[in-house]
Amino acid sequence: EKGGYPSFMAKEIHDQPRAIADTLLGRTDAAGHLVLDEMKLDESELRSIDKIVVISCGTSAYAGQVAKYAVEHWCRIPVEVEYAHEFRYRDPVVNQRTLVVAISQSGETMDTIMAVRHAREQGARVLAICNTHGSTIPRESDAALYTHAGPEIAVASTKAFLAQITACYLLGLYLAQIRGNKYADEIADVLQQLHEVPAKVQEVLDGLEQVRALARSMADTRSVLFLGRHVGYPVAMEGALKLKELAYIHAEGFAAGELKHGPIALIEPGQPVFVVVPSPRGRDSLHAKIVSNIQEIRARGARTIVIAEDGDTDVEPYADTVLRVPQTSTLLSPLLTIVPLQVFACELATAKGLDVDQPRNLAKSVTVE
Ligand code: M6R
Repeated sequence: EKGGYPSFMAKEIHDQPRAIADTLLGRTDAAGHLVLDEMKLDESELRSIDKIVVISCGTSAYAGQVAKYAVEHWCRIPVEVEYAHEFRYRDPVVNQRTLVVAISQSGETMDTIMAVRHAREQGARVLAICNTHGSTIPRESDAALYTHAGPEIAVASTKAFLAQITACYLLGLYLAQIRGNKYADEIADVLQQLHEVPAKVQEVLDGLEQVRALARSMADTRSVLFLGRHVGYPVAMEGALKLKELAYIHAEGFAAGELKHGPIALIEPGQPVFVVVPSPRGRDSLHAKIVSNIQEIRARGARTIVIAEDGDTDVEPYADTVLRVPQTSTLLSPLLTIVPLQVFACELATAKGLDVDQPRNLAKSVTVE
């Protein structure tokens, strides 16, 4: 059932184009409008919300952090993203006008279940974004939007992550559509771009030899840093989490802008640093800033491994290695830039002789608080 792959994780990484495509499937009508009737939340209710709070854990929390950038941009609704276990045990400000979005692959994560209960007690409407039909979180929520990634077996989440980001984008575009704000015109265009993403993920998967060889050559590495800005920041943290979980290597993800406020002190000759670079088109200053971050760490001896869009030549003078992804808009880029990082972690762990499907000390779903 591993489909000829050496592990469930490798198979699930290769399932990703389909996971995205299936999550998009059947969610637009003939006129190209999003139809999310299955959510069973009243449109007038959705029009009146004034805040979104995303609660989740681990990789699902990083999907929420990616979503924040897109949903705030398209809908102009403030989005807070918080670990479910932190949300639950403070005194969060939520009420009837808050839409709480609980993201969970399994639907059985106890921290997230407790946070859902707490949010509903405060009067918030709760929407579950979940991969498992009939599981506790969607059952206990007011509404559910399912990701269609198929069962995820490997402990490390991969295809569920991409499907969660896709579902969050659908939610954001849907809210923009029904609230009729100025970004409503962008919806058709973004949806079109989203439909092109599975083929682009496939392109990344078809060109993995470089990242595999890199991972094998780094099997003795003891520490790896990951930097990103904007949507690249949660991607950096997810890349670090994958490496911790699978390869038991110390790894940290940072917001690149934070470097000079402390983490740059960690840079010493030979320190490997992955840098997730946003598209050079569009938000120019963002791109230029991260190129200068790469320059700064390279000058201090870092070994720079840069994930950049096809055609981005600005990064080349400062990159020891460039891992390429196809062009897409900045907001959708996490669906592509995370893939080399997943493969890197999987391959490096395999090179160390570790079981990538069952990393030590971890369970697929954490059903205790
Ligand atoms: O099933 P959930 O999405 O609620 O799980 C949340 C986390 O436990 C999960 O994403 C965990 O961090 C994975 N091991 C990450 O690879």
